[in-house]
Amino acid sequence: MIGKLNHVAIVVPDLDAAAALYRDTLGATVSEPEPLEAHGVTTVFVHLANTRIELLHPLGNDSPIGRFLERHPDGGMHHVCYEVDDILAARDQLKERGARVLGDGEPRTGAHGKPVLFLHPKDFCGTLVELEQV
Ligand code: CO
Repeated sequence: MIGKLNHVAIVVPDLDAAAALYRDTLGATVSEPEPLEAHGVTTVFVHLANTRIELLHPLGNDSPIGRFLERHPDGGMHHVCYEVDDILAARDQLKERGARVLGDGEPRTGAHGKPVLFLHPKDFCGTLVELEQV
């Protein structure tokens, strides 16, 4: 069902410092910061040959990752995103197989303008899983 790894998202307390770390210490290509007000995050993409790392920092007072950063002040891995061809078919299959879909179960438009869903971390080895229809 799942296809490629689309990205791994890491929440960071200092976006400029994290971008510099990936660019200057690890020698990767990083994007400019992009504020996504509708999602309550600012993102920097790290472009790797086979996937991307998405550095996330809270934007605004009501950010969905604000509490994560309170609990993990040094930052930490937030989710992995797998690609699927048909997000509704994937959701229905996963629910049949006992997985819990977060929220109301309906896909939302994600940070890349594509439909996404999140799966409960307790059902996936303690890891929040995002599915993105590509
Ligand atoms: Co994501």
